[in-house]
Amino acid sequence: MAKKTFYITTPIYYPSDKLHIGHSYTTVAADAMARFKRLTGYDVRFLTGTDEHGQKIERRAKAAGKSPQEFVDEIVAWIKKLWQALDISYDDFIRTTEERHKTAVQKIFQKFYEQGDIYKSKYEGWYCTPCEAFWTERQLVDGNCPDCNRPVELVAEESYFFRMSKYVDKLIEHIEQNPDFIQPVARKNEMINNFLKPGLEDLCVSRTTFDWGVPVPFDSDHVIYVWLDALSNYITALGYGSEDDQLFQTYWPADVHLIGKEIVRFHTIYWPIFLMALGLELPKKVFGHGWLLLDDGKMSKSKGNVVDPEELIKRYGSDAIRYFLLREIPFGADGHFSEEALIQRINFDLANDLGNLLNRTLAMLKKYFAGIVPAPGITTSLDEELKQAAAALPGKIEALMDELQFSGALAELWRFIARVNKYIDEAAPWTLAKSGEESRLQSVMYNLLESIRIISVLLLPFMPRTPERIWRQLGISGEIHLQTWESILEFGKLPAGIQTVPGDVLFPRLELSAEDGTPVRQATKKDKPDTTKEVPKKGEEKKLISIDDFARLDLRVAEIKEAEPISGADKLLKLKLDVGGEEKQVVAGIAKHYSPEELPGKRVLFVANLKPAKLRGVLSEGMLLAASDDAGNLVLATTEAPIKSGSRVK
Ligand code: MSP
Repeated sequence: MAKKTFYITTPIYYPSDKLHIGHSYTTVAADAMARFKRLTGYDVRFLTGTDEHGQKIERRAKAAGKSPQEFVDEIVAWIKKLWQALDISYDDFIRTTEERHKTAVQKIFQKFYEQGDIYKSKYEGWYCTPCEAFWTERQLVDGNCPDCNRPVELVAEESYFFRMSKYVDKLIEHIEQNPDFIQPVARKNEMINNFLKPGLEDLCVSRTTFDWGVPVPFDSDHVIYVWLDALSNYITALGYGSEDDQLFQTYWPADVHLIGKEIVRFHTIYWPIFLMALGLELPKKVFGHGWLLLDDGKMSKSKGNVVDPEELIKRYGSDAIRYFLLREIPFGADGHFSEEALIQRINFDLANDLGNLLNRTLAMLKKYFAGIVPAPGITTSLDEELKQAAAALPGKIEALMDELQFSGALAELWRFIARVNKYIDEAAPWTLAKSGEESRLQSVMYNLLESIRIISVLLLPFMPRTPERIWRQLGISGEIHLQTWESILEFGKLPAGIQTVPGDVLFPRLELSAEDGTPVRQATKKDKPDTTKEVPKKGEEKKLISIDDFARLDLRVAEIKEAEPISGADKLLKLKLDVGGEEKQVVAGIAKHYSPEELPGKRVLFVANLKPAKLRGVLSEGMLLAASDDAGNLVLATTEAPIKSGSRVK
């Protein structure tokens, strides 16, 4: 039987500049979906590409002193390298400057003209070049583009127009009869209420004031409007309008166009109307996701390294970036990007929950069974519960993926990972080993290893590199049949007798450097991930801090060199400290408890990364730690035995 097909697209990107991490969002999501569908047995076609014509690109090229073609060629090569680094598994990459596309777009335009959908007239109105969008006076917001808020230009030129009005009623009917067509629902309502119901004006579909575009086939003064050119990519890439349209016959209509929310209008109004005019089926779904924002607003390349995908991949690895993008933000909503949040995800979800599960399990296996997968023995209800959770998992994840709920799917997977971690504590293999319950111990270890294998297969669409690293350690790297969707539908496919090979930690814990807040330092071996992370009780969340919060403190041993009173401040002493050879001055509220004479020579604990402040006009460059009780006693915190000043306290 022929496989079911699945056709998924991303928008085609403007190669007007290098992309930022926000651009990667659509593509990573589409890739995860494409991989998921391949895993579950679909014949997938995944298309991405570049939208290379238009006034914006022409101007950028001119500013760079290059021909438009030269200009886009360079950026397109960079984009392709970026997608490779992010493991984007596209089946086709279409460039709108390719012949296969241009010829087909001209045929489409010709057909519209011949059937009377296009007529010649004069356009007078506003144009937003960054968005390549026409606006009427009424639609502008404070005289600016309602989408991007940037200034618009007045355009007056001869143009060809497309009779949008002819198709409006049919489109409204289609949208209303197909509730899945525009997702999420709020975007559908916006399209109907703000754009379709008020009535659609005919769309200007050609330009004459610049050249960088596909020429109108019967009027060489005009180039085709860049959105008509660009939207057609979804079918021209399948060979529509060419001699060989086999792919088009196989994959159209698209199952889903994934796009950002600001281009929903083009994809759910113009595009369906063009398709109707061509007599073609409409895509089954158009999903408009939210934006990835920075704390101080919209993302742009000018924000530097923080948003540079190449730099982020270099620092954190592509799987971690992919995980963050898919997990952090519910698909559809806006969300924030920051390196702090990324590091939290890496430390908690990847290093702690996932990485440590593998480490702990393989370490125990080595100890109890010389690293060889045992056959399961005596089973208890605890095991049954775990197996049931594992068996239910693929179905739950598939349902969430069908709704494009990437974050929900990952949350479900991580719930299972937490369940398996808890199973270790509940089954307590160390107790079984001590009391000689060999058969029970075999079951527990087997269940852990099989659960990890199931997790690794489910990770594939989201983090394509990590599963192979897990399989190598599980000793099943070449065993393709243990890496399939079918192999995880039933618990227990992992054969006994396999020799495991414990390896590197999957994700070392990371920290932001205290100095400038950006570079990443890998934690040392001592800095072990904590899997016994306590779940705060309700209401307690605010009081608890994470190990990462604590790690932000730079605590040092300091030697007090001098101490003197501060006139007019009877509680304060001014202290000179030696912190590993560096002199620091501190104002401490200890005058009631220590005399200046008794302090020099004491080794105390010093908070070295506190923002400097002035107390009573005296500079204080940190703080000493001291303990005080209700009775008003206060003692300085010191080290239990002598240790070099400057030593780190952790
Ligand atoms: N060329 C048009 C699309 C034509 S499709 C027929 C275009 N290109 S774009 O390069 O500006 O944007 C490509 C995609 O990146 C869009 O889906 C857009 O929403 C997405 N993103 C750009 N910045 C983004 C964020 N900060 N966050 C999430 N997605 C963002 O539009």
